[in-house]
Amino acid sequence: MSTIWSNTDFPYMCLKDEARTLAFRDAIRAVVRPGDVVVDVGAGSGILSFFAAEAGASAVYAVEIDAVSAAALRRSVALNESVGERIVVVEGDAAEAELPLGVDVVVAEIIETGLMDEEQVPVLNALRSRGVVTAATRLIPAGYETTLQLVSADHSYYGFEIAAPKHEWPFFASGPGWHPTPIEAASDVVTVSRVDFGAGPVAEQVAGEAELAIDPAANVNAVRLGGRVRLSDALTLGPSHALNGDKILPIGAFSGSSRARLRWRYRMGGGLGALELGCEPVA
Ligand SMILES: C[S@@+](CC[C@H](N)C(=O)[O-])C[C@H]1O[C@@H](n2cnc3c(N)ncnc32)[C@H](O)[C@@H]1O
Repeated sequence: MSTIWSNTDFPYMCLKDEARTLAFRDAIRAVVRPGDVVVDVGAGSGILSFFAAEAGASAVYAVEIDAVSAAALRRSVALNESVGERIVVVEGDAAEAELPLGVDVVVAEIIETGLMDEEQVPVLNALRSRGVVTAATRLIPAGYETTLQLVSADHSYYGFEIAAPKHEWPFFASGPGWHPTPIEAASDVVTVSRVDFGAGPVAEQVAGEAELAIDPAANVNAVRLGGRVRLSDALTLGPSHALNGDKILPIGAFSGSSRARLRWRYRMGGGLGALELGCEPVA
């Protein structure tokens, strides 16, 4: 399969997202101890590897699958002499790359909202099964919570109805020039998954259902997929400019009912294409 573009855009957005990046820096400063061996899964720009080295890690393995990002990361490492000699760039898939066993800390930010479109869970499971992650390894982030909510959304753009998933990043609200997408909550938020990355292998399949009270006046036509990352017991992060943006997923529309049954099934890391949603009014 040929590569149609190199994935350097999103890691740069991550670097620019101060709320996200400074929260990860706080977590790294709290967790990494002098002398630790650290693996940074999906290093991108390398910023989290630099934070880990700054916090005193004796070695940081910065694993990056994208060749352009990995080459840039080697140059960045060379530019930062104070910490660069403790950072080893490993180009490849973190699930398979050669890494030391029983590392002290794993930092992993290959997170897309709901842990669906990026492979945080399959990669951490692979690292655990290979012995890179053990029961003693400290993980950043510590956990993740995925939520669903029924909503009423305006799917019209430039005179056409667009059924594509809507990635509603907070920065779209920060200035003019973005097409507005009005979204109204139609039900309570339901938590569909709570993952503790440090507790052992994570079950990748998720399925469930819930009956939800809804506003009979609402035209229910979409589900809002949301997520929160738990960096530590004291620090959680919801939507920021490059992490956990809400995804508005169109469903068959209905109205005039005060209750609805919502069903979900997906595989973590399986992509949005693997997400099955069902929703119907309850008579
Ligand atoms: C969301 S960015 C985060 C970058 C950086 N860690 C940060 O927090 O700023 C995720 C990065 O992980 C890389 N990546 C995704 N899956 C990977 C895998 N299985 N192995 C290694 N790198 C991966 C992507 O190419 C991208 O650069």
